[in-house]
Amino acid sequence: MQVIKYAFQQHGDSRGQLVALEEMKDIPFTIKRVYYMYDTGEGVRRGYHAHKSLEQILICIHGSCKIMLDSGFEKKVVSLEKPYEGLYISNNMWREMYDFSSDAVLLVLASELYDESDYIRDYEEFLKMVERGELDTNESNE
Ligand code: TYD
Repeated sequence: MQVIKYAFQQHGDSRGQLVALEEMKDIPFTIKRVYYMYDTGEGVRRGYHAHKSLEQILICIHGSCKIMLDSGFEKKVVSLEKPYEGLYISNNMWREMYDFSSDAVLLVLASELYDESDYIRDYEEFLKMVERGELDTNESNE
């Protein structure tokens, strides 16, 4: 299981830092939706789902958090703690987000509009779909 973490180009000068992200260039898909999480309560763990086709890039633009990725075969934990780091998550990964610092702002760039029917929220169902080969990756990086 490969974890794809980007280090985005920082345009820094004496005034500070700036990161610019363009679809199909810095981001490997067209960006149809942006959302962000903040004021996440202490000890909260969220996510607990996979997607049938959605691709995402997660950027902790302030503070820090951890992401647990689970392919159904293997689990990996990734820390996001820099505003220029982006974690790519393909459609077929179970994800859980936790250990949010109180100041964390987790920005998500998504390849599709919100669609509840794209969610797999039952872990046992996710494992069955992986086992049956129903969740082929649509990873843009491949
Ligand atoms: P939810 O899917 O529970 O967040 P997560 O699983 O990532 O922790 O989303 C919380 C609420 O926000 C839920 O009522 C659905 C709504 N929502 C939208 O309306 N649009 C979106 O793009 C997202 C991600 C969530």
